[in-house]
Amino acid sequence: MSKAEADGIIFERQNLMLQFDKDAELLGEIAAGLKPKDKLAEVTASIAETAAASKGAFEPRVPGGRAKPEVWSNWADYSRRLDDLEKNTKQLAEFGAKGDLTSVTNMLGGALQCKECHDVYRGPKKPA
Ligand code: HEC
Repeated sequence: MSKAEADGIIFERQNLMLQFDKDAELLGEIAAGLKPKDKLAEVTASIAETAAASKGAFEPRVPGGRAKPEVWSNWADYSRRLDDLEKNTKQLAEFGAKGDLTSVTNMLGGALQCKECHDVYRGPKKPA
């Protein structure tokens, strides 16, 4: 694989993560009542879409960025986490599509597991 290809793969998975960040922040604000719930369907659908794309984005064994080598040496566990995320966010999007903020909020605590995964599989920020 060329360096450009490898960089493209890392860029793609980092962009998905940045999208998670944006959507999870907005969703948290909606759940907290800080933002109106008119974007609930859109933002939950977006998280589900990003989650569905994530496993494929990490499948190529391309160390780099802040991904620890354990992503690939521990692929069974890592990919199970992404499968769970996909499943949970699909459920979130179904509630979101119905405008069911209560069910979305009830699920939120356990559905995303962002920090849990980062604690194990994401390295520290690199100096710019
Ligand atoms: C299954 C593991 C896993 C889950 C779940 C996960 N992440 Fe990540 N995340 C990673 C890894 C690995 C990286 C480092 C990727 C890289 O640099 O190549 C990362 C990177 C990031 C980054 C830094 C992106 C950048 O390049 O600036 C953000 C922001 C982020 N994740 C947000 C989230 C949010 C928000 C969630 C939950 C909705 C989430 N992540 C869920 C594994 C995960």
